[in-house]
Amino acid sequence: MSQDRVIIFDTTLRDGEQSPGASMTREEKLRIAKALEKLRVDVIEAGFAIASPGDFEAVKSIADAIKDSTVCSLARAVDADIDRAAEALANASSGRIHTFIATSPIHMEYKLRLQPDQVIEQAVQAIKRARNLCGDVEFSCEDGGRSNIDFLCRIIEKAIDAGARTINIPDTVGYAIPHQFADTIRQIIERVPNADKAIFSVHCHNDLGLAVANSLAAVSAGARQVECTINGLGERAGNASLEEIVMALKTRQDVFQLQTGIVTEHILSTSRLVSSITGFPVQPNKAIVGANAFAHESGIHQDGVLKHRETYEIMSAESVGWHANKLSLGKLSGRNAFRTRLQELGIDLADQNELNAAFARFKELADKKQEIFDEDLQALVSDSVTDVPERMRLTFLDVTSRTGQIPEAKISVEVDGIEQHATATGSGPVDATFRALEEIARSGANLQLYSVNAITEGTDSQGEVTVRLEKAGRILNGNGADTDIVIASAKAYINALNLMHAGVLRAHPQVEGI
Ligand code: KIV
Ligand code: ZN
Repeated sequence: MSQDRVIIFDTTLRDGEQSPGASMTREEKLRIAKALEKLRVDVIEAGFAIASPGDFEAVKSIADAIKDSTVCSLARAVDADIDRAAEALANASSGRIHTFIATSPIHMEYKLRLQPDQVIEQAVQAIKRARNLCGDVEFSCEDGGRSNIDFLCRIIEKAIDAGARTINIPDTVGYAIPHQFADTIRQIIERVPNADKAIFSVHCHNDLGLAVANSLAAVSAGARQVECTINGLGERAGNASLEEIVMALKTRQDVFQLQTGIVTEHILSTSRLVSSITGFPVQPNKAIVGANAFAHESGIHQDGVLKHRETYEIMSAESVGWHANKLSLGKLSGRNAFRTRLQELGIDLADQNELNAAFARFKELADKKQEIFDEDLQALVSDSVTDVPERMRLTFLDVTSRTGQIPEAKISVEVDGIEQHATATGSGPVDATFRALEEIARSGANLQLYSVNAITEGTDSQGEVTVRLEKAGRILNGNGADTDIVIASAKAYINALNLMHAGVLRAHPQVEGI
């Protein structure tokens, strides 16, 4: 790999999925992985294979399907994790095992209860085992941002000797400050005697809002891989955002003089796909992919941009995919056009029943909405194609909401094939609908978050609703889309209940200590 190339390692499907409520199904992960491949991400971290059978299957399906990106699985530095990762990656065109162990004094003492030499020993064993199973091994020093530099240099030298070819320094808790983090990376590269045999990588969390700044500072100091996520999704405050890293490197070519392989025109569609699948909306003022990122409100700015775009724009909206593929399909579009457009969006509905269900939803939507955009199609597929068993299904909803009257919802839901009915009142139509649903479901879950977003412009837009439910410490996000936001809300609530009922239990890589 040339020295002027930065490897983009996307961990949306692993660290991104560690955002509370962002869990994705196997089918959804595969769809995102295909979009990441189209974006030309170098490495896709597809998951943590040992976390659950579902995670294993997701990593395996992605490894089987993806040809143009390396597919990676996370593994703690223990035999069982490494073997499971290797098994999931067996058919990958290019696979990578990413193993890690904590190296900061606080993690070694309180979490691992190991002496530093024992940590080195365990890391070396794990890397050797991984190298016997897979030619491409990455090693991460968890909590690297708070680790002692001398210890980091010692363990990294041994890790490279044991066969790791990528060395990642994560700022796990988002504690680093750019100039100090750059100094750490520079020192490591200078002091580790065999540093020339590895690529140095960083993985920054955003607890202080510095993840992108820290990653770029590390790149200036010699890091040549950046771990990041679409929309900055990730544990707690998230990870460095892929779109911001990539566009900073591209726009400030004069400063960095480095390239990535990313096809930036696909950034926006990938961002929208991730947002629609996870139900995490993108804030309007988010750099690159927020609705306002290229909108000029003030008259002076508008005038300037019209006279000469570069007066107020440092990159073009088109270069990240704005204004592309706007109008997609209309009422008269047939099944073939529908399937072709989905394929162009990276959605391959091989199963005839899934295609039929999605096409029926498309026709319904086209009756209500004149113009169907790519975002509508993505939401529609998320809504009609799922590999989570649909224990509950909305069959009827009648909501009354009038000035001076208490809103009332009458609802019918099929539960395990049997139709059940309920009526409830509430402070608004959505509240009444959720109360009526709870009359039937009696889930005992707490509603933690309710959000509605317009998928496209105009009042005929579909509303995309996210409902976050919590029960006994488990958090689940349900999503629903419809041109009627009360129906979308009911669908989202039912989706969350179905996910809760499916009851997938998974290990957390950084909580389940070794
Ligand atoms: O934040 C972190 O330290 C991680 C590692 C597992 C790479 O996600
Ligand atoms: Zn992380």
